[in-house]
Formats: sequence, C-alpha cells, structure tokens
Amino acid sequence: MLVLACVAAAAHAAKLPSYLTPRCSRSLPTPALSACCEKLANQGVSSLAYGDKKLRIPSMRPLIVPHMSLSQGTQQIGLNLTWEPAEIWGLEDSRLYNMTMDWQNKKAVFDVVIPRFTLAGHYKSSGRVLLLPVNGEGPSNMTVYNLRVHYSYDWPIKKNPDGKEYVTITNSAISISGADGMKLDFQGMFNGDPLLGNQMNAFLNENWRELIREMGPGMAEATGQVTLLVMQGLTSHVPVSEMFDP
Ligand SMILES: *[C@@H]1O[C@H](CO)[C@@H](O)[C@H](O)[C@H]1NC(C)=O
Ligand SMILES: *[C@@H]1O[C@H](CO)[C@@H](O)[C@H](O)[C@H]1NC(C)=O
Ligand SMILES: *[C@@H]1O[C@H](CO)[C@@H](O)[C@H](O)[C@H]1NC(C)=O
Repeated sequence: MLVLACVAAAAHAAKLPSYLTPRCSRSLPTPALSACCEKLANQGVSSLAYGDKKLRIPSMRPLIVPHMSLSQGTQQIGLNLTWEPAEIWGLEDSRLYNMTMDWQNKKAVFDVVIPRFTLAGHYKSSGRVLLLPVNGEGPSNMTVYNLRVHYSYDWPIKKNPDGKEYVTITNSAISISGADGMKLDFQGMFNGDPLLGNQMNAFLNENWRELIREMGPGMAEATGQVTLLVMQGLTSHVPVSEMFDP
C-alpha cells in the first residue's frame, strides 16, 4: 500500500494551466472528445511531472514517497518489501493511448506506457521467494521497460461550496497490462551475503515475467495512486467550466 498526502480541498478555483490548453469542447462526440483529451494529456504530462504548486502536485523527477510497501502472499512468493523512502523515476515520459472520454456516462478509460519505470531507494525485505528466505536491506533498483498500465475510472461532477462544479474521481481500477523487460538490483539481500545475494538477483532477473505477474497488483496500485494524485490535483482545483469549452 502506498501512502501519499491527500490532496487538500480547493481553497479557490484555479485556472487550467496553459500547458493543458487549448481546451476541449464538451459538446464534441465521444471519439473526438477522447482524441482531444488524449492529445492534451500527452502534451501536459511532462509539465505535470515537474510539479505544479498551484495545483499542489509534487515534482515527480523523481517522485519521493516517504514510505512504500508491497506485500505479496502467493505460493511462489511470500514477501514484504518496504522502501523508506521510495524514489519513482520515469513518469515524465509517460504516453497515453486508447483514451475513451465518455461525457454522457462520465467514464474514462486509457492505457499508459512508461518507457523506463524505476522504483529505487533503500529497501527492507522479509519473507521468501520460492523456498528461500530473503531477509535483508540496502539500496535497490527495479527498472521496468515499457511498462503498460490500463486505467479506468468514473468522474461524477459535484458542486463545491464555492458554487462551482468539479470533477471527482471514483471507482478507479488500474492494472498492469504488460512490459517488455525488467532489470533488478537488490543489494544486501540475505543479510548481506554476496554469493546468495548475487544468485537471487540473477534468479529474479531471469524470472522477471513471473515476478511482474506476482507483483503487478502492488505496482499497479503504486502507479495508480500517483496518477490519481495528479488527476485529483487538477480536478479538485480547476472547475469543470474552466476545464472544458462549452
Ligand atoms: C490499445 O488497445 C489495443 C486494442 O485493445 C491494444 O491491443 C493495445 O495494446 C492498447 N495499447 C496500449 C498501449 O496498451
Ligand atoms: C508481512 O507483513 C505482515 C504484516 O506486517 C505480516 O503479517 C506477514 O507475516 C509478513 N509476511 C512475511 C512473508 O514476512
Ligand atoms: C536504475 O537502473 C537503471 C538500469 O540499470 C539505470 O539506468 C538507472 O540509472 C538506475 N536508477 C537509479 C535511480 O539508481
């Protein structure tokens, strides 16, 4: 579970940042609205990744998460991994595809490709991979190439006390839909035993597909929370009337 600071409610309405303009018209038919929103999101993603103080979006180069943990309990892997802090690199190069922005039903669906997604930082682990106990701690780097993530969520509109309408994000569902490769380096495994540590790193690197399958839900949650933080920063500060043209 990833714990990030909650986005505070808007004190007053903010303007749509210029890197997310020109606005899309809400009257466009769904395919055209979807294409317009996808284009804007791709245009704005690297600016958003640098952070936006007005929207309370932190810088993501890297995104520093003070505490992050993945717990995995399956037949193959029973593992608790904790990073304090975790660094997430590579989000600024995210590209969105297959966007459906449905104004009538207030649903959004899209895919994201992150060419090089890195989770790094000081880790602690306890548990087992196959039958081997893997207790240890040290620097770590888990880099996934072309990480593909599928998102869907609802975005009902609510009126805030300021009398303006804002999008809220609900029912978000995020899953890892694929990757082209992964490279791992966990130092200090097995309480620092270098021989066992190297063997385990080699084993994990060889079995990266299996590992992504096992750890996918946890990674999806982590990337999903980050995306949600960005989207909520935007939707809780920028009213609907400012976000779309009529
Ligand atoms: C876009 O959708 C198509 C059809 O469902 C799928 O094959 C493709 O992988 C998707 N693209 C991404 C980047 O996920
Ligand atoms: C992982 O952590 C949880 C909660 O701290 C604990 O109940 C569980 O036994 C741990 N699992 C492993 C494999 O260490
Ligand atoms: C993580 O590993 C990748 C691939 O080996 C490397 O390119 C990258 O610089 C590393 N990042 C960090 C933060 O250690």
